[in-house]
Amino acid sequence: MNIAVRYCSRSGNTKALAVAIGDAVGVDAVSVDSDKAAIKEPTDLLFIGGALYAYGIDKRLKSYLQTLRKEDVKKAVVFSTSWLSKHALELIKKALKNAGIETVEETLYFKGRPNEKQLEEAKEFAKRYI
Ligand SMILES: Cc1cc2nc3c(=O)[nH]c(=O)nc-3n(C[C@H](O)[C@H](O)[C@H](O)COP(=O)(O)O)c2cc1C
Repeated sequence: MNIAVRYCSRSGNTKALAVAIGDAVGVDAVSVDSDKAAIKEPTDLLFIGGALYAYGIDKRLKSYLQTLRKEDVKKAVVFSTSWLSKHALELIKKALKNAGIETVEETLYFKGRPNEKQLEEAKEFAKRYI
């Protein structure tokens, strides 16, 4: 099974989740800013996460989502952090839907920086899909 983890994170909160997910599924979590972020080979499962900033997602994540193609990504799982709102989950899901990429209904979300217990939850969550 080919798995990828991608995230966009300004202050590290969503990155912490991405790293826990990557640990759980055995791949590196890669920032959408990285040269290595492009999905270049068929991927069975993409974990993709970002946070909410002033009711929107970061434009780097928005641009990255536009690069994803249903021919390369079979299924996606979405995760997010924020102060309060889960809206980023919907925005990311909407972008994936627009690209025709199947997205798992269930999502992973925590308020702010995830603590150790939440990181363990994130790992358990991720393992359910592999
Ligand atoms: C400029 C700015 C705007 C934000 N706007 C919102 C918001 O509208 N709603 C919300 O729930 N959280 C908001 N947040 C909180 C972030 O989503 C939250 O801190 C998140 O965990 C940051 O994740 P990151 O460290 O991965 O970037 C905002 C944070 C910043 C810095």
